[in-house]
Amino acid sequence: MTAVPVWAQLVYLACAVGFILALKGLSGPRTARTGNLVGAAAAVIACAVPFFYVDLDHVVLILVAIAVGTVGGVVGARRVQMTQMPQMVALFNGVGGGAAALVALLELHEILEQPGGVDVVGWFVLVATAFTIFVGSVSFAGSVITFAKLQELMSSAPLVFPGLAIVFGASLVAGVGLATQLALSPAMWVGIVLALVGLLFGALLVLPVGGADVPIVISLLNAFTGLTVAAGGYVLDNVVLLVAGTLVGASGTFLTLLMAKAMGRSVSNILFGALKGGSTLGAGVASDRPVRSAGPEDVAIMLAYADRIIIVPGYGLAVAQAQHTLRELVDVLGERGADVDYAIHPVAGRMPGHMNVLLAEAQVPYEQLKEMDDINGDFKDADVVLVVGANDVVNPAAKTTPGAPIYGMPILNVDEAKQVVFMKRSMRPGFAGIENELLFEDHTTLLFGDAKDSMSKLLNAVKAL
Ligand code: TAP
Repeated sequence: MTAVPVWAQLVYLACAVGFILALKGLSGPRTARTGNLVGAAAAVIACAVPFFYVDLDHVVLILVAIAVGTVGGVVGARRVQMTQMPQMVALFNGVGGGAAALVALLELHEILEQPGGVDVVGWFVLVATAFTIFVGSVSFAGSVITFAKLQELMSSAPLVFPGLAIVFGASLVAGVGLATQLALSPAMWVGIVLALVGLLFGALLVLPVGGADVPIVISLLNAFTGLTVAAGGYVLDNVVLLVAGTLVGASGTFLTLLMAKAMGRSVSNILFGALKGGSTLGAGVASDRPVRSAGPEDVAIMLAYADRIIIVPGYGLAVAQAQHTLRELVDVLGERGADVDYAIHPVAGRMPGHMNVLLAEAQVPYEQLKEMDDINGDFKDADVVLVVGANDVVNPAAKTTPGAPIYGMPILNVDEAKQVVFMKRSMRPGFAGIENELLFEDHTTLLFGDAKDSMSKLLNAVKAL
């Protein structure tokens, strides 16, 4: 292995600091763009450094691979819709884990080939190599399946079969056994079988996870990939991989725990709920019970004469891309003297911060975005709450119906408002697949239609008053 010169170590250190600053920047909407750029620049520099001190073979092939990866990344990132972001993250994450596992297999080959072989590197490097191969393969297979579920290439429902728990347990035992074997008496075949067992384990880990839990699993797999890359950094004696991997591992773990908490679930329930026989989704059938519906003109009157209005954005707002028209409507209502805020539930939409990003894109002032805990006390004073394409995050079943998939999830207290207006297309339920009693209450009105279309009509109707 080439010794890393001091100048390169210093550049790697600067890149590691860049990653930390990037994370800091990404933690607030005002600084997120700069944070992203700082992180990307640090990654580009860290990738370029080895070209200046390592005596590389196959430079042309490496450059071609980088070019293909860059084009794929740029085209993918430009084309992806906001609502498809979890799939994109799953795919990038899987590729990262798979790459780390392949690098560890190649490193194992080098260790076995070099004079003195195993005795030179020591057992700890072999443990780190085994960890990288196994967990990287788990992450790759798990991410590919979560991608397929989210992209609807396969059913997003939990997939269980008789004996799943036994095969799952056996593959875990086999993985640990093979990793031990690799550390004690390394051989190439052990590494390859370990990778195959990792692929099986990764698939079995994710198949029983369904519906709303899939994005959380992506975050968990992201943490796995981070730890894999960190272990790979140890094997390769590369400090920047070590730091970057640890940061991804830590932030992925935090994000997983925060998302699970926001949905009122435990991580073990998310991963093993279906194995224990519980389902993570409701039936998802549209209700035919009577509701009160109104046209845009009636809702416009309600809004135009309200003093306190709260907007609750949800997944449907993102699907309809109605955020710009919504902001215009809020501006007009504000000019008419209403006090309007947006109530942001931590898991509204399909990814963390989904609503914040969506509304920031429409230039909504950050001061108008209120977190759930800050605004939940205000609903009882609201004259009208306008729920735009949200459902589960306002469903009182989370408080009242033990056994419901969302039971225990903190919700926005929309039911306490004087008037509630739901903008949605039909009586179909939200992601959790369960009915929302709030839709049938006396103080609730439904404005049916695609949110963008209804929002334009509503805006025109308010302007006309
Ligand atoms: P949902 O409960 O999924 O409800 C979305 C609503 O939008 C549905 O009622 C749907 O009704 C409506 N809709 C869809 N397209 C529309 C359109 N074009 N125009 C108007 N309405 C439209 O969304 P939510 O309240 O935001 O809750 C999020 C769910 O995702 C929660 O269950 C949460 O646990 C889960 N989840 C979130 C995350 C993160 S991190 N955000 C991660 C994992 C899971 P129609 O079909 O009748 O229009």
